[in-house]
Amino acid sequence: MSDTPKDLHVPKGLEDVVVGTSSITFLDGLKGRMLYKGYDAVAMAGQVSFEEIVYLLWEGDLPTRAQLQPFSKSLADNRALPAEVLAVMEKFPKHCHPMDVLREGVTLLAMVASDAHDGSQKDNREKALRLVARMGTFAAAWDRIRKGLPVIPPDPTLSHSANFIYMVTGKKPDPLSVEAMDMYLSLLADHDLNASTFTARVIISTLSDMHSAIAGALGALKGPLHGGANEKAMEMFLEIGDPAQVDSWVEKALQEKRKIMGFGHRVYKVEDPRSVPLRAMAHRLSVEKGDTRWYNISIKVAEAVQRHKNIYTNVDFYSASVLYLLGIPIDLFTTVFAAGRVAGWCAHVFEQLADNRLIRPRTDYTGPTDRVFKPLAQR
Ligand SMILES: CC(C)(COP(=O)(O)OP(=O)(O)OC[C@H]1O[C@@H](n2cnc3c(N)ncnc32)[C@H](O)[C@@H]1OP(=O)(O)O)[C@@H](O)C(=O)NCCC(=O)NCCS
Repeated sequence: MSDTPKDLHVPKGLEDVVVGTSSITFLDGLKGRMLYKGYDAVAMAGQVSFEEIVYLLWEGDLPTRAQLQPFSKSLADNRALPAEVLAVMEKFPKHCHPMDVLREGVTLLAMVASDAHDGSQKDNREKALRLVARMGTFAAAWDRIRKGLPVIPPDPTLSHSANFIYMVTGKKPDPLSVEAMDMYLSLLADHDLNASTFTARVIISTLSDMHSAIAGALGALKGPLHGGANEKAMEMFLEIGDPAQVDSWVEKALQEKRKIMGFGHRVYKVEDPRSVPLRAMAHRLSVEKGDTRWYNISIKVAEAVQRHKNIYTNVDFYSASVLYLLGIPIDLFTTVFAAGRVAGWCAHVFEQLADNRLIRPRTDYTGPTDRVFKPLAQR
């Protein structure tokens, strides 16, 4: 029936299908390894700033101090949102989900950027820099606007992570909070061909533009099977409320065949390696902030799920309590994921454009082929 050759038929959800080459992030799903440009991303977490990781993903190497300083400054100089964009955001309905605001915000940026449709490599770099610089500003500004509070302008003297926490909470963060945010953003910065990154590559492969690729990626990230899981994991901890309730809650949820958010992964058949430093960070933050309830609940949930099913925690599980303890509102969690992943999306856009071919797969058509048309009057 179809002209699709049988050997092109692929598993549902494109599981384990290799659709191209990339030299950005290497994953080993059986050993639980993750490398950025050949460096162990998990071993680096906690020892590098987000700015260093963005530089690594885009330039291919970790920066020297002399390279990092101007790069960090360019990011800091580009954090503020254009006044026209903030003015439109003021008009959005206050109940809008922050991810919807972020997606619309990126398209608004395209409308006010004079270089939005310039596809040159130099211009794409500049657009990418602005997008990475501003992703967190959108989230923080929207949180203030919807609460009727004045937007806190970015502070260029603070690092990327410190500034983000400052714009959300209004307080200059302590060193451990900055370390936690750097760890989180760095671990989330890229992850091979996940759904949102694939979306960005498909969009740019049509020779569309950088902002469209990032707006599309944001749409893919929002879903609870992808980046939206961190919000759902925190909602689950709040619903459980007490470590003593964990076992009965998990048993009931699994009996009802509910998905436990923050568990399972398409690639990792072992624990997601990003979980390890995030679990340790969740513990350190809990102790430092004097609130160990969410950490204790999460550890018990992980143990309870493991007793029943052969699935492991993924990146969104422990990051939920990390972000909560940093004072980030729960419905902003996925925007913080986006603030990290935008670095990887841009790296993949650069890589796709460097050797582009339109991404245009096929389906195996299973519908009818011989129906006889009748005009409207005869139906
Ligand atoms: C990430 C995810 C979408 C991967 O999906 P996938 O590769 O298609 O895996 P499947 O949904 O086919 O799961 C395989 C098995 O594990 C089970 N499983 C996977 N994740 C589960 C979860 N979070 N809770 C309960 N069971 C889960 C499935 O029910 C299935 O069991 P079965 O074979 O008995 O039917 C899936 O694990 C999930 O929905 N997780 C929760 C959302 C989440 O945390 N997303 C963030 C990912 S980083």
